[in-house]
Amino acid sequence: MAFCPRFVAPASPYPRLGQIRNAAVGAAPSEPPKEVDETKRNVLKLLAVAGIVGAAGGGLAAGALQYAQPPSIGLASFPTVQLLDLDGSPLTVTNVEKEYNVMTNEVLLFNYPLGNEPNFLINLAPATPGGIGATNVKNGIGHQNSIVAFSAICQHLGCPAPAINFFPPGTCPQTPGGKKFYIHCTCHGSTYDPTNGAANLTGPAVLPLPQVILQWDTSDDTIYAVSEVGPPVNGHLSTLTGDYGVGNSSQLSQQSPVRLCNFPS
Ligand code: FES
Repeated sequence: MAFCPRFVAPASPYPRLGQIRNAAVGAAPSEPPKEVDETKRNVLKLLAVAGIVGAAGGGLAAGALQYAQPPSIGLASFPTVQLLDLDGSPLTVTNVEKEYNVMTNEVLLFNYPLGNEPNFLINLAPATPGGIGATNVKNGIGHQNSIVAFSAICQHLGCPAPAINFFPPGTCPQTPGGKKFYIHCTCHGSTYDPTNGAANLTGPAVLPLPQVILQWDTSDDTIYAVSEVGPPVNGHLSTLTGDYGVGNSSQLSQQSPVRLCNFPS
C-alpha cells in the first residue's frame, strides 16, 4: 500500500496567518497583566458604533431630504385639456362609442394634468345591446354615461400601465366583488372597480385610483379633461405637482396589455 509522503514545513521565525504575534516574546514580563475594565471598554465600543451610525444616518437623512423637498414645477389649478384621438384629430364621443367598448383589448392612455401622469380612457358600454358591460356609471360621459378615465399608476407601489390595465370580461376566472371586469394590477394583485370611481376590490392597495373628470361638449362632440378627483396620483405630493402641464391638448396613445391574473389568495 502506498502512502503520500508527509510534508514537513520548515521552522519559520514568523507567525502563521491568524496568529497574533507577541512582540514581547523572549522579554521578561516587567509587570503583572492589568485587569481590563470591561464596562469601560463596552462603553467606548458603543460610542464608536454610535458615531458611525450617526454619520451614516446623517448621510441617509440628507439623501432622503432631497426627495422630501416639494418639487418646484407643477400647476396652480386643473386645466381644461382637449383630448385628441390616436391620429391627432379631436377625440369625439361618436368615435369612442364606435371603436371602443367593454371588450376592447388595447390599453388607451392620455396624460393629464401633468406630462408624467398617464390615465386610462375606458368605455364600459356593452359590445352588444343587453350584453355584459356598464352604463350610467359614476362620472361617466357619452350617450350611456359609460366613458370614464382613471389614473394608470397603481395606488399600491406605483406600477404604471400596461402592468396595470383594464381586464375585459372573461380575461380572468376571478370575479372580485361579483365584478366580471375591472382594472387589475399584475404587479401585486390590486383590483379596482371602474363602475364605482375605481374603488378597491382587492388589495394590497387601499386607496382608489384617481379619476379624471371628463366633459362632453355636445356642440361639436369633443371631449375634455377638466379635473381629477380622489387621492393624489401615486408618486406625487399632489396631482398638480411634479412635472410640467400637458398644455391645451393631450393625445391618446395605445399599448398592448399585460394579462396576468395575480389575485391575492
Ligand atoms: S403596484 Fe399595483 S398591486 Fe402593487
